[in-house]
Amino acid sequence: MGVSIDQDLLLGELETLASFSEVLAPAVTRIVFSPQDVRARDYIKQLCAEAGLQVREDAIGNTFARWEGASADGPAVATGSHIDAIPNAGRYDGTVGVLGGLTAIRALRRAGFQPRRSIELIIFTSEEPTRFGIGCLGSRLLSGTLDTSVDDQLRDQGGKTVKQVRSQAGFRGELKEVGVPAGHYSGFVELHIEQGPILEREKISIGVVTSIAAPASLRIVIEGEGGHAGGVLMPDRRDALCAAAEVVLAVESAARETGAIDTVGTTGVCNVFPSAVNSVPSRVQLEIDIRDIDGGRRQRVLSQVERAAGDICKRRGLRHELQVINADAPGTCDPRIVDAITRACGGLNLSYKRMVSRAYHDSLFMSRIAPTGMIFIPCRGGVSHRPDEYAAPDAIANGTRVLAETLALLAGS
Ligand code: GLV
Ligand code: MN
Ligand code: MN
Repeated sequence: MGVSIDQDLLLGELETLASFSEVLAPAVTRIVFSPQDVRARDYIKQLCAEAGLQVREDAIGNTFARWEGASADGPAVATGSHIDAIPNAGRYDGTVGVLGGLTAIRALRRAGFQPRRSIELIIFTSEEPTRFGIGCLGSRLLSGTLDTSVDDQLRDQGGKTVKQVRSQAGFRGELKEVGVPAGHYSGFVELHIEQGPILEREKISIGVVTSIAAPASLRIVIEGEGGHAGGVLMPDRRDALCAAAEVVLAVESAARETGAIDTVGTTGVCNVFPSAVNSVPSRVQLEIDIRDIDGGRRQRVLSQVERAAGDICKRRGLRHELQVINADAPGTCDPRIVDAITRACGGLNLSYKRMVSRAYHDSLFMSRIAPTGMIFIPCRGGVSHRPDEYAAPDAIANGTRVLAETLALLAGS
């Protein structure tokens, strides 16, 4: 196609989007359905409308901006990502795929491209698990891989249900109307920063994703007995945090013991009650994330952690409750989409490499209902989920060009 993208506009929009944050720059925190998330959504919707796209939202807040193709009734080609950001994050995770997607569409329009299939930009709700403990809420519901009972069952830290917070943010429809069947989209392609060091290290412009690792997460609540830090004698202690500390180490060992570089285990949340220096912790909530590109091996690590938590709590005389929040199968990218991305790279003379995604993405769930692929760009030091996350302007522009050419190939003219 030979599209030209407006790099300065894209970088300026990324900067504006980063300003919708609960913390000071360069850090970004934008939790789903928070006032800053709602402001960011309004900003994106306005940009999409200004670009001449038809904007619509579903009941979970997934936002769709559509460019009608010549065969408007057939399945559309979709692209997109997320704009929510974990606490103390950077500005590129997800946002590059959303604003890069919009920039690619604008560039195709400017170039006079007339798509045969419609092209849709999707901004998925809550790719990050921060608020409800489960990632990819929007894409799971869109792909029908999550029961709609989550509406009343999942609660945030403040005890509010999904239904309550989405209604407050203006999304009042029924979740059962969110899902679309396989075939609804003819293809899905997501642009994203790599969130790993390989492309930068090997000086390669583009990562063409072939599969996405299998994620799982667990919540463990350990109940012990609290009391005065001076008064409760050591032999009488039933300290929930000491048990939790052992569980955290068991997660680390279970992940390390597979011997595979692709197995990772992280305990990222540890809430201690009552959290006072002179009080024995009576209750601890842990949230644990385990991933692997090999789904069976990930499952064995998960079971090992479950057993370890049971053994530790039994030995210490504590009660515990364990909930598997999600244990998803890995995702496979579609050869046709992978081929389109590699052809786009070839046409633009950009070096590329096939690779797996160790992070999960909305693409994992879109791959259940549509042929899916991902375009990765390098990010400095492989750093992500940190305020110093950074992708160079050239890298963002390259990824956006590859996305535009891939969309053109997939939509046809
Ligand atoms: C997505 O943010 C992930 O945790 O992989
Ligand atoms: Mn993320
Ligand atoms: Mn992301």
